[in-house]
Amino acid sequence: MSNPRILVTRRWPSVVEAVLSERFDTTLNRDDEALDAGQLREALLTHDAVLPTVSDRLPAALFEGEVIRAKILGNFGVGFNHIDIKAAKEKGVVVTNTPGVLTDCTADIAMLLLLSVARRGGEGEREVRAGAWTGWRPTHLVGTKVTGKTVGIIGFGRIGRAFAQRCHFGFGMDVVFYNRSAIDPMEAARYGAVQLQTVEDVLEIADFVSLHCPGGAENRHLMNADRFAAMKPGAFLINTARGDVVDETALISALEQGTIRGAGLDVYEAEPHLPERLRAMDNVVLLPHLGSATEETRTAMGMKVVDNVTAFFAGQEPPDRVA
Ligand code: DGY
Repeated sequence: MSNPRILVTRRWPSVVEAVLSERFDTTLNRDDEALDAGQLREALLTHDAVLPTVSDRLPAALFEGEVIRAKILGNFGVGFNHIDIKAAKEKGVVVTNTPGVLTDCTADIAMLLLLSVARRGGEGEREVRAGAWTGWRPTHLVGTKVTGKTVGIIGFGRIGRAFAQRCHFGFGMDVVFYNRSAIDPMEAARYGAVQLQTVEDVLEIADFVSLHCPGGAENRHLMNADRFAAMKPGAFLINTARGDVVDETALISALEQGTIRGAGLDVYEAEPHLPERLRAMDNVVLLPHLGSATEETRTAMGMKVVDNVTAFFAGQEPPDRVA
């Protein structure tokens, strides 16, 4: 049997690209430009495996019509709401992801955002760079203390737990969370966290609300105008999950009207585009989807895709199959 033809949609860590090239007939994307819908469709028709990332939209339309050659989509990332899983399944295309290896780094970025918004790190950094700092003074860029405050976590999976652990044991915060299914209180206690019944219960008491649930239809606009209104006055929102979990227009209104005090965001509804009004605000810290962006994690993610695709073409069940 000939070597499977594989297409990688973006540049990956070179060590992973080398392994893929050794094992498969691999097409790499040397200039790292995002493929458009036509190119992704072509990739599905002409390759045995396509290895996409969060920047590749694969809606149902791309799977329709002619017989698709691709048998597996080895997604580089844990979130896969950019892929229409139902359409892939209907065409018999297996989908895998990369769970586990980005837990710590994503929780770190959530912590970085929490600290940055609370302590006004973004504003301070911009001020120093602009040469606008006039010196130390008691009332300058005064933020909020985090020790002793309550953080509310929405979604208590791997990343939510790692974030809880950092907040409670690292920063002396009280941690409450909402999760769709019940978590054993002993397990929650390992992370210094207590489960509440509803999202509203969390919003009512949390000084910081941090989102750690999957994106996609089930959680689309989970944070909407009503939920912002239900947040504790003066609270902050942190989002390292997916942009579509937050209604960005409602968020902007809540920030403009002072319903909430600030936000730390790593993900957006229409990445890489952000509303101008959001970019103009001082009380937000905006990162370009950096959750998993460390050398160690990106390499581990790539190697997980390699393992999944290798298992698949060896006739085995891929370890991280999601569809
Ligand atoms: C993930 O793995 O979900 C990251 O957000 C990149 O897609």
